[in-house]
Amino acid sequence: MSTPATDETVHENGEFYYPSDEIKANAHIKDYDAVYKRSIEDPEGFWAEEAERLEWYKKWDKVFDDSQAPFYKWFVGAKTNIIQNAIDRHLKTWRRNKVAMVWEGEPGDVKVLSYHALNREVSKTANVLKSMGVRKGDIVTIYMPQIPELAITMLACVKIGAAHSVVYGGFSVEALADRIASANSRVLVTADGGWRRGKVTDLKSIANEAMDRSPTIEVCITVKRTGHEVRMENDRDFWFHDLMALPIASTKCKTEEMDAEDMLFILFTSGTTGKPKGLVHTHGGYQVYTSTTHRYVFDVKDEDRWWCAADPGWITGHSYLVYSPLINGSTIMMYEGAPNHPYPNRWWHMIEKYGITILYTSPTAVRGLMRFGDQWPKRHDLSSLRLLGSVGEPINPEAWRWYHKHIGGEKCPIMDTWWQTETGGFMICPLPVTPLKPGSATKPFFGVQVGIVDENGKEVGPGEEGKLVIKRPTPGMARTIFNDPDRYVETYWKEYEENGWYKAGDSARIDEDGYIWVIGRIDDVIKVSGYRLGTAEVESALVSFPAVAEAAAIALPHELKGNCIHVYCILKAGMTGDQKLANEIKAHVSAEIGPIAKPEEVHFLESLPKTRSGKIMRRVLKARAMGVDEGDLSTLEE
Ligand code: PRX
Repeated sequence: MSTPATDETVHENGEFYYPSDEIKANAHIKDYDAVYKRSIEDPEGFWAEEAERLEWYKKWDKVFDDSQAPFYKWFVGAKTNIIQNAIDRHLKTWRRNKVAMVWEGEPGDVKVLSYHALNREVSKTANVLKSMGVRKGDIVTIYMPQIPELAITMLACVKIGAAHSVVYGGFSVEALADRIASANSRVLVTADGGWRRGKVTDLKSIANEAMDRSPTIEVCITVKRTGHEVRMENDRDFWFHDLMALPIASTKCKTEEMDAEDMLFILFTSGTTGKPKGLVHTHGGYQVYTSTTHRYVFDVKDEDRWWCAADPGWITGHSYLVYSPLINGSTIMMYEGAPNHPYPNRWWHMIEKYGITILYTSPTAVRGLMRFGDQWPKRHDLSSLRLLGSVGEPINPEAWRWYHKHIGGEKCPIMDTWWQTETGGFMICPLPVTPLKPGSATKPFFGVQVGIVDENGKEVGPGEEGKLVIKRPTPGMARTIFNDPDRYVETYWKEYEENGWYKAGDSARIDEDGYIWVIGRIDDVIKVSGYRLGTAEVESALVSFPAVAEAAAIALPHELKGNCIHVYCILKAGMTGDQKLANEIKAHVSAEIGPIAKPEEVHFLESLPKTRSGKIMRRVLKARAMGVDEGDLSTLEE
């Protein structure tokens, strides 16, 4: 590259990066346009063909059913279990002895599991869960650090027909208690703690506090990871290793036959209002969609060592750390701790040590490691890498180019994948053969039709910003919100009911080459370091602090995190807003929701800008903080 372009000029000019001949020669799909055309003209035919790659106990009677739109169904009448494809079928081939998972703990301990060994662990755990009364249709809450038992427990639940609800290990008491209650879980699986930056994260104490608020929990199974002292309650708490040593923990366990549309898992994510919503994913469509996207977008082959560095507590970890790579028979890498512990070369060292060929991570992680300079990756031989990936937020071109040059050695295309908890898998993303533009997720995946529309639902012209919609359902999309179908319709399908479009909640634009540039959320969802939070959750934590009467939270741009949270508080009479109180408020939010929700700044105000009907106008706060035009203030209360 000659003169490095600024972020602005890149956006305007859209410089292209072309894949090498080698990448093109090896790609599963060589002609995106032809396959895309086919997938749009005959989506059912396309998806049925992909589904044929997988095993089913019984094939479908119908590929797609829209008779109860927007509650769409896929592979209707089929019988399967995602475990049948993620584990069982590999046991019948040479892959039985292939490495399924390489795991490294932060202190440096390593575990390697073949598909054979993974099956034994999953079966034993499944039998343990059964012995604790877990049955088909139950939802088990899982709250764990990134250790193999996390993936094993997810798979074990699913094997016996139960669903899981994984709560990210970085969440705290209130977030965990809320999610347990919404899932109505009887069983919680957790760990004493995990390692993060050389310190123990005390998960069991958080779990204990959350259970004190959760009357539904009868059984808690705890994996011993850190070995620190924890409180275990008689008759409720069991050590995982004790149960796994019992005769009941047999290595033989039948995989439960499920309907393609049976619940696989629920995953809570933040929305615009109130409590987080539990999105429901199902066995059939999800297994087809995630494995197809993983296979084509990352060109996955048996020789690959795949590392999705996301936490299994988020959809990225569900779809691309656990399920799709196992379905595709890949070797997956999993790492417990911080990317910069003990030094900023930890990841680069692991890539070299394990011969990782594909790395999939977030722009925040790239920016975080970029900050330490290229002398850290330079120390390592990263030549095993052939593809890179990005997810969770727009990647700024500066980070893109650093990632491309210093990690990918200028030879690895970066697959910038746009998708959501709701979509289950990639929706807008390149293929390895796609010419790339840094910062653009490029084009829709097969079978996906997107639109960018104005306030009236009219398609906007090239270069114009508008709302991103998805014009037809895909097999991996969430089927509903757990226990709240009305909210599902209201949130995603109501606005474009006539057209049958799905509202993504993001704004975007399409350039003259048909490349899509996702700009960011247009609702009250905040992406901090790629993590999804709702302003409502932060605000509810704020007003649970004794001194705070009213509060508002907004997202402001942040160099490393993409966005950070600024909060505005009105204090109760007689309270003074000073630095000490601000720090206490920050600590309180962090303890209630988790460190990711910790506000960057706390501001004290006498009043909040509101509409006449009493709704806080967060956009006014944001405009003021950024020193830009406040826009239409006609609804602002005097
Ligand atoms: O705003 C978009 C952003 O993340 C949101 C979805 O968040 P979540 O459900 O937590 O899923 C994250 C992982 C799939 C989207 O609405 N987002 C995700 N990927 C990208 C992105 N924004 C820009 N570019 C991306 N590649």
